[in-house]
Formats: sequence, structure tokens, C-alpha cells
Amino acid sequence: MANQKKTLDDVKNKKLLKHKGLINGEWVDCSSSKSTFDVVDPATLDKLATLPEMDKHDTAKAVDAAHEAFKTWKKTTARQRARMLRKWSDLCHENVDDLALIMTLENGKTLAEAKGEVVYGASFLEWFATQAEMTHGQVVPPANPNQRIVTFKQAIGVAACLAPWNFPIAMITRKCGAALAAGCTTVWKPAGETPLSAIAQAVLAEEAGFPKGSINLITSLTTVAEVGEELCKNPKVHKLSFTGSTRVGKLLMQQCSSTLKKLSLELGGNSPFIVFNDAKMGTAIEAAILAKFRNSGQTCVTANRVFVQSGIYDEFAKQLTEKIKTLKVGAGTEEGVFVGPLTHDRAVEKALAHIEDAKQHGGQVVYGGKAMEGMGKGYFLQPTVITGMNTKMLTTREETFAPVVGLYKFETEEEVIELANDCDVGLGGFVITENMARSWRVAEALEVGMVGVNLGMLSACESPFGGVKGSGFGREGGTQGLDEYLVTKAMLINVAN
Ligand code: SIN
Repeated sequence: MANQKKTLDDVKNKKLLKHKGLINGEWVDCSSSKSTFDVVDPATLDKLATLPEMDKHDTAKAVDAAHEAFKTWKKTTARQRARMLRKWSDLCHENVDDLALIMTLENGKTLAEAKGEVVYGASFLEWFATQAEMTHGQVVPPANPNQRIVTFKQAIGVAACLAPWNFPIAMITRKCGAALAAGCTTVWKPAGETPLSAIAQAVLAEEAGFPKGSINLITSLTTVAEVGEELCKNPKVHKLSFTGSTRVGKLLMQQCSSTLKKLSLELGGNSPFIVFNDAKMGTAIEAAILAKFRNSGQTCVTANRVFVQSGIYDEFAKQLTEKIKTLKVGAGTEEGVFVGPLTHDRAVEKALAHIEDAKQHGGQVVYGGKAMEGMGKGYFLQPTVITGMNTKMLTTREETFAPVVGLYKFETEEEVIELANDCDVGLGGFVITENMARSWRVAEALEVGMVGVNLGMLSACESPFGGVKGSGFGREGGTQGLDEYLVTKAMLINVAN
């Protein structure tokens, strides 16, 4: 493999490389032990950094700091907070190459995708800067002539933001940007696999002027359960936002019940990607590649079940396979690579198990199907196409989260809607058709939170992101994203003489 070996030494702005947690404005180690964990490059398994394995005691301290800081932060004006968010966004753009390199090294996605994510992540900061000043209340017509009623919105308090490893910057800014814009203070818990990108964001946020205690960051890999439990059960935390699996989302919700926290849960998906006979083939292939291969198939809205109408099934399978054959696989830092490694070893094992299961239930692997050979120790999987998919297969029920495309054949619109909705989660869905009426009908019928029509990506800071059923609840981004961190207060005034 011609890997142009890049390391964290190639990061120019060394300030971004703090290998510690952040509590009350201090970059710190674990307070009760010398425990650490390593962050590794999934393309090579080389060690990138050693970070403190922080625990529930550190987490409680971080919450205390955020609780204390909230007393003054909540009194800042929306304009002041918006200025800091804009500065933070500008700093992301100024440091785009360094931030992208850090992300590629710890997550594996290509440099081009990582740069795209830096810009996408920064867009949430700009967006929430505009939204901060739009948290309007109401003047309510009273039934009682001696009363006047107004409502206003206030920050809910300390927000715990638990971010996943697949979008190490954008999921931080989408949650924490909203929380800070609303006037909340925050405790960040980035994934143990990808904490370096979040740390770099905290450094830039501090530089942008966010005061001590408004941002606290816990680094943890093996202590994640105790850190999560502390965040859920600590009564000083009033809001918890989590992106991750449905299993963990349910556990966090149970743990939050004792303190009745406000929750946003963006959980697993199993997106249907539906191609009708009338689709433009070029649009369908391009959208399928993006929806499936972005981040090597590791997005919550990835096209997990690709349904193709019978009239174009064979041609679609042929053209998609031809296109996939041209996609270069390799380390994300390498020139021209389109498909990087998966982020950890369990991901490769799970994908191989799904492929094997599909074969046993009658699927034909027409391309790929194995772990990549000759790529060193990294977590690489061959981009894979399977035809003849059916509902007995594991992939029908579970996200594969890998560059594996399974093609299901269908005949009618009614049939495909039923197949698509026969699923206990509902995050994203895609419809590829030139028939406008059909795109409306199918978009309305799909039991999901977001639908893409003739495109392969659902990401835009101004559009609400979130799901239904087992994909959770709450919305991030859009005008709804800020409301998740606000409470509406009503004031009733006696005006009797
Ligand atoms: C996700 O996979 O959870 C996020 C994808 C996106 O924001 O585009």
C-alpha cells in the first residue's frame, strides 16, 4: 500500500493537540488514578495519542464546573453568544487542514470528507449564532380581563453532550453549538475512538471566548459506562443529548428517569433507499454511492436497504457494480482514496457476518465480500455488492455500518412502502424517481424523520435531523435544534386596578 504516512506531527497548529480532559478551564488528567487509553489510527493501528481515562469523579467535577458557570453564562445576551459562535466557526475555517488531518488519523475517513465535515461542523455554529437571537416568546390573549400573559424562553441549564465517533466534529458542534447558543453550559463526552477532534474544538471554542466552565470535556474509553451513568443521574444536569445505538439510547433514558432530564436521542437507522423504474440512472447511481459510501458506510443514515424496482434492477446492479469497482480503498490520508478503513475491528467482523448471512439466505456476492488483503493491519473491507437480498437476512433488521450494498427487488409502490416501513427504527429514507407526485406520496408514507429525494445526503445545518420509532426523538439543527436546550416560561400578571 502506497501510504503517504502522515502523523499528528504534520499538524501545524500544535495548540490543537492537547492530550487531556477539560474541567473548569484547566486541561487535566484523571484525578483519582493514572489510568490512560490510547487513540489509534484505524488505517495502520499506530498509536496516535495517550489520553486520561477519566471516571465518574471527574465527570461530577465537570458537572459542578458547568453548574457554577451557568449562573453567569445564562445572563449573557444572545448577541454576545452569537459573536463567540461566529468566531469559533471562523477559527474552524482557519484551521481546516489541521482539523481534517486530526479527524482522518483518528476516524479513518478521507481527507476530502474530513474537510467537508469541518465545514459542515462550522456551519452549525454559524446557524446557531443566527438562531440564538430568534428565541422569541409570545403575548397570549388572556381569558381573564384582569390578566396579561407572556411567555419567554430560557436556557434549561447544564447540558451533557454525548457524541459518536463517526462524525467527530459535526456531532459536537450540532449539539454543543446549540446548547451554548441557548445559554446552557456543557459537558462534552466525545467517543473514546475519536476524542482528538473534540479536544481541538474545545481549544478553538476557548479561543473564541467561551468562558471557563461553559465547556468541559471528559475523555474516556473503557470507563464510558460510569461516565454516562454519572451524567444521566447527576441532578445538576438538566439536558442530555446522545447520538449512538438504540440499545445504549434506551439505557441512558432509563438512567435519566430518576432526574427526569430533557432528552434528545439520535439513535440507529436502517434507511431504505428506493429506486423506481422512472429514475434517472445517473442520479440513482450517484446518490447510492454517496448514501452508501460516505464515511465508508458508517453514517446513521446510510442506505442500508437498497430497493430497486424490477424494470431496472439488473441494469442498476450492473452500473452500480462498475462504479464501485473504480473506488479506491486505502488510508484516508492517501491521494485519490474514496473508501477509508472502518473505525474499529468489531465493524469489520459485523460486516463479514452480515455478508455470510446474506449468502446463506440466497444472496449473491457480485463484488467484494471479504476483508482487504495486503493493506497492513488496518480495518479495511472490500466494497461489496450483494444481489438477491430478501427479508430473512440480518441486514434487513440491523445496520451493517460498512461499505456493503445489498439490493432488494420490488414490483410496486405499495409493496416497497410496506417493506421499507417493516422496521423498528426510522431515521432516514431516500426516494429516487422522476415522478414528482410519487416522490411526495412515498416521502409522506415512509416512517422516518428525514427523506432525501433524488439525492444521497440529508445533511444541512438548517434542516432538522432526527428520527422516529427506535431511531429516537428530538431534532438537531434546524429551528428545532435550539429549542431542545430551552424551556418556555409563562408569566401571568395581575393588572386589576
Ligand atoms: C449521522 O450519521 O448521525 C450524521 C450524519 C449527518 O449529519 O450527515
